[in-house]
Amino acid sequence: MTAPAINGRAPDSGAAARPIAMAVERIVKRYGDFEAVKNISFSVAEGEIFGLLGPNGAGKSTLIRMMTTLIPVTAGKATVAGHDVSKDPDDVRRMIGVIPQALTSDPDLTVEENLSIYAKLYSVPRAKREKNIVEVLEAVDLLKWRGAPTKTLSGGMRRRLEIARGLVHDPRIFFLDEPTTGLDPVSRIAVWEMLNHLKSTRNLTMLLTTHYMEEADKLCDRIAIVDHGNLVALGTPVELKNSVAGANVVEVQFDREDEEWRERLERLTGVTSVQPESAGFYRVITTSGSKTTMELVEMAAQLGESLASLSVQNTSLDDVFVHYTGRQLRDEQVKAQMASWAMMPSRGGQP
Ligand SMILES: Nc1ncnc2c1ncn2[C@@H]1O[C@H](COP(=O)(O)OP(=O)(O)OP(=O)(O)O)[C@@H](O)[C@H]1O
Ligand SMILES: [Mg+2]
Repeated sequence: MTAPAINGRAPDSGAAARPIAMAVERIVKRYGDFEAVKNISFSVAEGEIFGLLGPNGAGKSTLIRMMTTLIPVTAGKATVAGHDVSKDPDDVRRMIGVIPQALTSDPDLTVEENLSIYAKLYSVPRAKREKNIVEVLEAVDLLKWRGAPTKTLSGGMRRRLEIARGLVHDPRIFFLDEPTTGLDPVSRIAVWEMLNHLKSTRNLTMLLTTHYMEEADKLCDRIAIVDHGNLVALGTPVELKNSVAGANVVEVQFDREDEEWRERLERLTGVTSVQPESAGFYRVITTSGSKTTMELVEMAAQLGESLASLSVQNTSLDDVFVHYTGRQLRDEQVKAQMASWAMMPSRGGQP
């Protein structure tokens, strides 16, 4: 077993046993006086799906842009597939596939034309090009749409096309910047399944960014939580959750909301913290969900306070985020989701 996060940062243990596919060492990106990425180090083992999880503006895209040679590194070092991104950018580019945050396929071309142009840009020979296009379209379940104009695809299909395009030259390392932002939940799960399938069938190493905790939890072997340009925690989803005191979260809603009530909740057995949310809704972090819940229900009954709702859950990555940053990622996530839905073109109805 690998060690859990310590002092907000786990030792970079998960990557040690297998060959390293990519690494950043004390990497920094400055825009004038503003430091978008602050002295971050981690490494990703071959075959891993590694997630950068953080709210808007955390520095996720900036990190990916440096690792994919799109912007220069201010200080520190990034190595991808054994090549230094600053010294050998062309070697790095040959080894990687990149899905940028914004959709970049041409809506006026067909699905196949979008792939073909990319394969030509990467100098994939004609025979191999045709074979690769069929293979990647099959992998993302778009083969029957190969002749369709890209503008007729739904948001989920367009994302899948972009993923296929990033793979058409057989890269070993795949960078995906928010691969599921703006997708409905069903399409998002379809993309996760596809990425997992690709990982096992194509021997890929993936680095993806997300602000969806569920995505990081379900899809990633290890996660780096980034916030304001800092790496605040690093580990497997289980290690990160275990690193936070409290095994359970009791979500409870009363008709009452005041400081005295909060203090009463804090005094219940096992409670390590109480986070008031809105309108009498509290998240109670506890080392013993069952004891805390029983005492809580008794206390409410004795004091004549009615319980509007109650649920007991295991610690989530949201709790991990709160623990290391003092804020909730969910708030940021909801804002980002609303913004992305507002900006999405109307979809064609397909998943
Ligand atoms: N070219 C630039 N010039 C100045 N500041 C920049 C530039 N690019 C990014 N930044 C700033 O760097 C910070 C990190 O941005 P970045 O795009 O990496 O965040 P992110 O984690 O990808 O966020 P999001 O989830 O919104 O995509 C932000 O404060 C952003 O405004
Ligand atoms: Mg970004």
